[in-house]
Amino acid sequence: MCSIIGYKGQFIEAAPLLVESLKKMEYRGYDSVGIATMNNGKILISKGVGKVAEVDKILEFAKLPGQIGIGHTRWATHGGVSDKNAHPHFSCNSDIAVVHNGIIENYQELKEKLSKEGHIFKSQTDSEVIPHLLEKYCKEFNNDYKKSIIYTCKILKGSFAFVAIFKNGLICGARFDEPLIIGIANSALFLSSDVLGFLKHTDKAIFLDNGDIVTIDNNKYSIFDINNKKVIRPITQVAWELGSTEKGKYAHHTLKEIHEQPSILFNSINKNNDFQQFCKFIKNASNVYITGSGTSYHSGLLAKNLLAKFAKIKSEVIMSSEFQYMSDTLETNSAIIAISQSGETADVIHAVKKAKEHGSKILSIINISTSSLARISDSVLVLNCGPEIGVAATKSFIGQLMIIYNVVNLLSGNQLSLNKINQKKLVTDIEKTLELDEKIKTIVSMLDSEIKDIYILGRSLHYSIALEGSLKIKELAYIHAEGIAAGELKHGPLALIDAKSLVIVINPVDETYKDVISSTHEIKSRGAKIIGISNKNHELYDNYLQIPESIDHLYPIVEVIPLQIMAYYLSLKMQVDPDYPRNLAKSVTVK
Ligand code: F6R
Repeated sequence: MCSIIGYKGQFIEAAPLLVESLKKMEYRGYDSVGIATMNNGKILISKGVGKVAEVDKILEFAKLPGQIGIGHTRWATHGGVSDKNAHPHFSCNSDIAVVHNGIIENYQELKEKLSKEGHIFKSQTDSEVIPHLLEKYCKEFNNDYKKSIIYTCKILKGSFAFVAIFKNGLICGARFDEPLIIGIANSALFLSSDVLGFLKHTDKAIFLDNGDIVTIDNNKYSIFDINNKKVIRPITQVAWELGSTEKGKYAHHTLKEIHEQPSILFNSINKNNDFQQFCKFIKNASNVYITGSGTSYHSGLLAKNLLAKFAKIKSEVIMSSEFQYMSDTLETNSAIIAISQSGETADVIHAVKKAKEHGSKILSIINISTSSLARISDSVLVLNCGPEIGVAATKSFIGQLMIIYNVVNLLSGNQLSLNKINQKKLVTDIEKTLELDEKIKTIVSMLDSEIKDIYILGRSLHYSIALEGSLKIKELAYIHAEGIAAGELKHGPLALIDAKSLVIVINPVDETYKDVISSTHEIKSRGAKIIGISNKNHELYDNYLQIPESIDHLYPIVEVIPLQIMAYYLSLKMQVDPDYPRNLAKSVTVK
């Protein structure tokens, strides 16, 4: 939701380095940005509204001197998007500055109390209570910084990670249900929300656990808990995350990530050794539940269909944000398949924790192997699709599908025919489908610019792809789009269809084909414009996007590609930055 970074070095100026780090983590939030550095015993803050590069152009962050600093990109929760609400926030005496990620649930009460004690607040954020609390305790405990940090953490309620800088050069951080990682370089230390914040400088990291507090002083770190007990955490060598975070020849990360899909397709299968163990948990479970949010939820829907169809395993898919309302009915010995690109989505983590309380086994499918979800799971399968920077999930969706297909293949005695020949063909099919790029661009350019609604139809396995396609269009182009189970059309949605509607039908030739053609007739007779995605053309389609002929159950993996490309070109048509849609953040770490 927000990204936080702290840096304490010996030789390099902090500000330019912090700007670079924030650019790498901007996917986490991008409505405002700020930096604080410490120079000659004085803390200097510069902050403003906009994306990192835009604000940097105006404020010229590099002008802030000092080899110690903190930085932040914001995704507003409490308090509007304004310069004042941007982080870092100062204490009254300007001796302490803080950047924060998460939500302080009891901030109102704390703010009232601190205000009565004479503290003056300058923003509407929940975060600002932190520097004031640190200031209060520093005064009370005669500048015993460690004690002040501990007391501050003890009084805060909610999920948070923060990094604070003190005018004596001390940096501290705390991790309570939001990620915080120490990066250890030769002559510098980092505190960051994501390894991407320091990966250019070091691949040595310490993933702090919940409740860990860290201080960095004299270029040494020390980790302790809320009871001031020393804590030792292992140093990890970060591996895949070293993948490229540059756009290369592409105009946007999103387009690059769409085009990367053939090359990462089988990474998730070939680079995991734990499929057998994962499947064993499913086989031994009394009940199987699947959970995830957004795109990952759509992968879950497909997983449910495939498990039922091929492995004859019954499962229930529950959106992570809804999971808490049914968790009391969870039977012991259930298996929860939690799907999440980031492994940090608060709704997913919350669902999993609820399930764990009921004795369930947690099987996760994630991209970030070091994420919070990975660390609370009993079995983990990793997408290995490299960093996904575009806020909209594209290649991670395909990565999730491949893991799901392989799991179902193993559980069903190879009924999904994922042998080497078919794997190779799938890669070629996706490559061929990507060649639709120009055609889709033309179709999109000819669409009415005032287009308000897009409907996407599919049955059975294709329904989850219809939902995923509509989510991509909503978030990338800000156009209302709806995925509809084609059979449900006549039970209500048909009333919406008229000559102004655009309907995309996902209709490869399989058991659903004839029924979807019937629905297409019904739509055509209401005058709607129809785009068909299929391996077979039909006179009903105004535009036809041909996908290669495939094995029936493999079509979903291919048919999502034209929808991703269409969402991308629609975003350009609507003059939206596809990499950073408004109001969204890649890692949604608040509930
Ligand atoms: C859609 C999108 C979001 C995420 C959702 C879950 O393009 O990116 O809907 O899928 O926020 O995120 P993860 O998978 O990280 O848990």
